[in-house]
Amino acid sequence: MTDYLIAPSILSADFARLGEEVDRVLQAGADVVHFDVMDNHYVPNLTIGPMVCKALRDYGIQAPIDVHLMVKPVDSLVPQFADAGASIITFHPEASDHVDRTLSLIKEQGCQAGLVFNPATPLSYLDYVMDKVDVILLMSVNPGFGGQSFIDGTLDKLREARRRIDNSGRHIRLEIDGGVKVDNIRAIAEAGADMFVAGSAIFNQPDYKAVIDQMRSELAN
Ligand code: DX5
Ligand code: ZN
Repeated sequence: MTDYLIAPSILSADFARLGEEVDRVLQAGADVVHFDVMDNHYVPNLTIGPMVCKALRDYGIQAPIDVHLMVKPVDSLVPQFADAGASIITFHPEASDHVDRTLSLIKEQGCQAGLVFNPATPLSYLDYVMDKVDVILLMSVNPGFGGQSFIDGTLDKLREARRRIDNSGRHIRLEIDGGVKVDNIRAIAEAGADMFVAGSAIFNQPDYKAVIDQMRSELAN
């Protein structure tokens, strides 16, 4: 049976009570904390940096932290996030001048490395770096904001990414980010995803556990 990971995006959490929110969503059954970093340059929004990641670790959060870098340039932030306690660091290949170098840098810092694909970014960026990739993250919305609708064309792209992973013979996570809800998570899993980011679907509901339980029961069907 596939081992599915649910990764709530804290973008939709209450930032005034972030430590408690992350604790609560982990108690509710989340596996991974998805941490969205936006720079008002690569994407038209501004969020949080390494200090906040470190603050969550200092607060006592032990779950894996999945840092999604929507920034340009990328490399200078990699050691800072590794030092701040990141477990996974993913970046958009268009935002790095040297994709192979950035992947190596992330791994040298002791983190898992991943590439993120915007809806119109081709998977061919993977062609020569599959051996360095631990995670492939497909965006099912244009990056920058929570609460957008899932772009259906991403399902075919997931199937293609799953084929590439199977052909590689490596264990690579296939993560999906944007518009993931209880009512589409099963179709997304059937297309090949095994790690699900969900922001508004979880944090906009009063009972995080109820949503996560519903997602898991969809995945079990
Ligand atoms: C968007 C971010 C997402 C976002 C997802 O650029 O990368 O992680 O928080 O939010 P929802 O699940 O609400 O689409
Ligand atoms: Zn994200």
